[in-house]
Amino acid sequence: MATAAVEVIGVVGGGQMGSGIAQLAAVAGFDVWLHDTEPSALQRAQKSIVDSIRHLVSKGQISQFAGTSSLNRLRCTSNLEDLRTSDVIIEAIVESEVVKKKLFLELDKIVKESTILASNTSSISITRLASSTSRPSKVVGMHFMNPPPIMKLIEIVRGADTSDEVFMTIKTLAERLGKTVICSQDFPGFIVNRILMPMINEAFYALYTGVATKEDIDTGMKLGTNHPMGPLQLADFIGLDVCLAILKVLYEGLGDSKYSPCPLLVQYVDAGRLGRKRGIGVYNYQNKTPSGHPLSAL
Ligand code: NAI
Repeated sequence: MATAAVEVIGVVGGGQMGSGIAQLAAVAGFDVWLHDTEPSALQRAQKSIVDSIRHLVSKGQISQFAGTSSLNRLRCTSNLEDLRTSDVIIEAIVESEVVKKKLFLELDKIVKESTILASNTSSISITRLASSTSRPSKVVGMHFMNPPPIMKLIEIVRGADTSDEVFMTIKTLAERLGKTVICSQDFPGFIVNRILMPMINEAFYALYTGVATKEDIDTGMKLGTNHPMGPLQLADFIGLDVCLAILKVLYEGLGDSKYSPCPLLVQYVDAGRLGRKRGIGVYNYQNKTPSGHPLSAL
């Protein structure tokens, strides 16, 4: 099966995921454009990428030369049109179908006919995102795990019309980024979040109904089931707003009350307790990790 050559990658959304994806792609040797509508998000992304690459150099994981050339290959922009030369665009903006569709519609008009539009969505239908463009065969899900430079997996999601060539091009790209690939058909939550989010939701219900403290719930799952972190800690790491958005997609898309988001999770999001990125979620990070950004954990 033929695969298209990929040299330039556009990343849309410079938050937790987009900044990590941009860093990963630049270190792997691609030319990268990173776009965000918020100048402050771009500044934060730039700082976190520079800090992370410095850290990789200081640990001897990449050479000084590789670090400097990675940074030279990465450009940040608040103008979406700068991404027009990209061979692949990876979207990592807010988990909202309406907002993502609007972006895909816009990108479809700006980029080359051959450009592949990939979404890092955690749960939203790739088929429906594709239907907002004139190129459904070139739309695909490319679901990175958090934080993208460290986690080994990419879940590729095939929409109803994703072509074999596009699937193979994205698989080859994922492997060039050093990742292991799994393939999911286009159903709500795909593989990983279909299984992970009900567990996180159940942990919130356990906390909400007074079964145990947050510490005991997390310690129970860490030591009892050999998970590297407990479900509530993981939810804070992912972002409680992202968890809630995924659960809503599962609930609406699969029509089963078992996916109904726990009221406590909803309340935390309403209160702006979004997890580590806001300094407070289930746990309070304000005095421990001031930036709250996962890459600061490197
Ligand atoms: P985030 O909230 O950290 O970052 C989102 C960024 O997108 C913000 O900087 C925001 O300014 C920007 N943005 C919003 N609308 C935009 C637009 N129209 N054009 C350009 N930029 C725009 O969110 P995060 O956690 O990085 O998530 C992004 C996507 O990645 C979501 O679809 C999420 O479901 C998915 N994802 C998240 C994971 C996680 O652990 N947080 C893991 C895997 C996927």
